[in-house]
Amino acid sequence: MTKFSNVIVRKPGRSLANGITSAPELGQPIYERAIEEHDDYIAALKQCGVKVTELPALEEYPDSCFVEDPAVITRMGAIITNPGAGTRNGEKTAIEPTIREFFDDEHIRYIEEPGTLEGGDVMMVGDHFYVGRSARTNEEGIRQFIEILEGWGLEGSEVTLEKVLHLKTGVNYLEDGNMLVSGEFIDKPDFADYNKVVVPEEEAYGANCIWVNGTVIVPERYPTVLAAVQKLGYPTLVVDTSEYRKVDGGLSCLSLRF
Ligand code: GLY
Repeated sequence: MTKFSNVIVRKPGRSLANGITSAPELGQPIYERAIEEHDDYIAALKQCGVKVTELPALEEYPDSCFVEDPAVITRMGAIITNPGAGTRNGEKTAIEPTIREFFDDEHIRYIEEPGTLEGGDVMMVGDHFYVGRSARTNEEGIRQFIEILEGWGLEGSEVTLEKVLHLKTGVNYLEDGNMLVSGEFIDKPDFADYNKVVVPEEEAYGANCIWVNGTVIVPERYPTVLAAVQKLGYPTLVVDTSEYRKVDGGLSCLSLRF
């Protein structure tokens, strides 16, 4: 079973209010509340037995608290991505020094132009990595990513996205064969062999839960998801991420777990 020892997070800046969003009707994130939610998120992670490395806010990158996107960490090494969102691309340079604290040259690879890839499009299931082809992650990025994985004895496969921002916006693996699926992922043949837990449309945001060392962290306000995860037998922790939801951010985007 996967075991995480470390987590990297980055504090949100006041510029989070200018993060990319597909839901402006939710309003702008309120900085003070976002900080409180971030503190609660870190506390929940620590309860799961990981060491949390907290990076300072980067005001020049409004979405940079979503550290999952500029890097992907596998059991064999780290891949610095090439984020497809123009305003986020520089986050790859900002995260690199921290990745270098954990990995040497031999264990760091890069996604390079014209390839683009964001970590939110990568879902790890053991040594297999599903990669969403999205508005942020292109065919060449996926090709490079899978080539790197195969060089490390790992493997990957492409999943085409039709509607959501990132792959993990709608599908998340909880270990033990269990997978939360919503919307366009409910009937995807790629996931036919898993024990799928279908998340209802009105709780779709709640599909983005994270498994951390046996505990599942679930976003607050998604009672059907919470009950389903508990029915699977997992201990749960609930964290409010509603300020991040306003800028298309979920629980998984807020950390790199390895
Ligand atoms: N606002 C998160 C993203 O668009 O990547």
